[in-house]
Amino acid sequence: MAGDSAQDGGHFKAAYTLETNEQTREHYSSWAESYDQEVSVENGYAQPERVAHTLAELYAGKSIQILDAGCGSGLSGLALKQAGFSTIDGCDFSPEMLEKSLEKACYRNLFEADLNAGQANIAANHYDVVTCVGVFSFGHVFPDACDDLLRILKPKGHLIIAVNVPYWEQGELTKKIDALENSGNIEVLKKELGEHLPGHDVMGWVITLQKCPETKR
Ligand SMILES: C[S@@+](CC[C@H](N)C(=O)[O-])C[C@H]1O[C@@H](n2cnc3c(N)ncnc32)[C@H](O)[C@@H]1O
Repeated sequence: MAGDSAQDGGHFKAAYTLETNEQTREHYSSWAESYDQEVSVENGYAQPERVAHTLAELYAGKSIQILDAGCGSGLSGLALKQAGFSTIDGCDFSPEMLEKSLEKACYRNLFEADLNAGQANIAANHYDVVTCVGVFSFGHVFPDACDDLLRILKPKGHLIIAVNVPYWEQGELTKKIDALENSGNIEVLKKELGEHLPGHDVMGWVITLQKCPETKR
């Protein structure tokens, strides 16, 4: 694992110690400029391609509307575009990360949003797919945000969550997903373990959830 300061790669280590929204927003504000280089180029961030592959299996050749929730600098949207998807909105609560996303030119709309606060301005049953790549994590987006992400999904739409193993093993997200499944709101279609950040030996899950047609949300 890299050292402690932002200059020597400490962004990675710090990302696993964040607790509050404020800490997380500051963290990404200072990481935005070097994020793509450190995460993708130097450490082979694998989750965007894994999620894009999952979506291609579900929707190849279909015209769908996607929300890349917590789009960050746009690595996740770029992978979706490269997999053939063209109608992708992105949102994030870090203006600095959103600015980087804009440069990728892969989003239809980009907007600032705190995913822990709900998206009152997005109609229910709006998107075919919501992707959350690397956004459920320590001090990031909390498991209860799933409720609103499911609300804005069309019935039978998919919520695809890519999450690092250390956070998954913390257990809160698993608990939430189990509760949603037990109450008949979602079906868990697939959970796949694979690479998350190979340069740091971090593994991750890609979890495919489907909103039930008779959902209670
Ligand atoms: C590890 S990055 C992942 C970004 C992108 N999806 C990717 O795969 O590269 C996590 C992102 O989640 C965003 N984020 C964290 N908490 C958030 C919240 N409460 N609301 C919206 N975005 C949040 C951060 O600003 C950051 O851009």
